[in-house]
Amino acid sequence: MTERVTALVTGASRGIGAAIADRLSEDGFFVVGTATSTAGAGAITARLGEQGRGLQLDIASPESVSELFAQISDLATAPLVLVNNAGITKDNLLMRMSESEWSEVLDTNLSGAFRVTKPVLRGMLKARWGRVINVGSVVGRLGNPGQGNYVSSKAGLEGFTRSLAMEVASRGVTVNAVAPGLIVTDMTEALSEDQTAAMLERIPLGRMGQATEVAAAVSFLCSEPAGYVTGQTLQVNGGLFFA
Ligand SMILES: NC(=O)c1ccc[n+]([C@@H]2O[C@H](COP(=O)([O-])OP(=O)(O)OC[C@H]3O[C@@H](n4cnc5c(N)ncnc54)[C@H](OP(=O)(O)O)[C@@H]3O)[C@@H](O)[C@H]2O)c1
Repeated sequence: MTERVTALVTGASRGIGAAIADRLSEDGFFVVGTATSTAGAGAITARLGEQGRGLQLDIASPESVSELFAQISDLATAPLVLVNNAGITKDNLLMRMSESEWSEVLDTNLSGAFRVTKPVLRGMLKARWGRVINVGSVVGRLGNPGQGNYVSSKAGLEGFTRSLAMEVASRGVTVNAVAPGLIVTDMTEALSEDQTAAMLERIPLGRMGQATEVAAAVSFLCSEPAGYVTGQTLQVNGGLFFA
């Protein structure tokens, strides 16, 4: 059992979630990071060493979420930091989008955040301190053709952020979103060269962002000095969109 503050980061096996897990462990948190496979969870444990642990989670499954919290209670204190980072895309134009493409993305990105956030609230309210960070996306504000499901999930996460922020503020718990722009990860690797070039033309800083730059924003929102910031969405997008 560790006495360090536990931070739970979903989707910590790669990309932005891995950078957030690494950064929060450097910040002194005991980090529980999740992956969908046991191999991925093992790799997180190997990466974090004494500073954390990897566990398996399918955020779309309520049973898997329950199992995750049972395992956390055996190895760490109740999480007082939660980063809802796990997310997927299943792009299609709305006219061609299947029911499953719509519902799998909403169920993972938005309902997944609900499933994981609800169980951590009790511990945070009891401690009268907590940090919930939801990883949204710049397209939650901009919209994006071919991503109606994904954009809806990310816009929904912002509304979720604001509502929960109001519910728990009186207990010292802050709830914010970080909205990345175009970041170098497997998710953007899937974009065509033309799509990437078209996006880069619209980014004033003229480059893609790094996962570590998103992690730095999350680190700030988890910190003590960020205690008066709640209900906000922090854009990390190279100037692509000004909130
Ligand atoms: N990359 C960008 O430009 C960008 C821009 C804006 C917002 N974002 C958001 O940032 C977050 C991370 O994106 P990324 O680019 O780092 O993505 P990524 O490289 O594709 O990684 C996705 C992560 O989510 C996990 N995951 C997928 N399905 C899951 C499920 N059902 N249950 C639990 N975990 C699941 C994956 O686990 P496995 O490794 O086990 O599959 C992986 O750790 C997402 O919410 C994404 O929408 C990314």
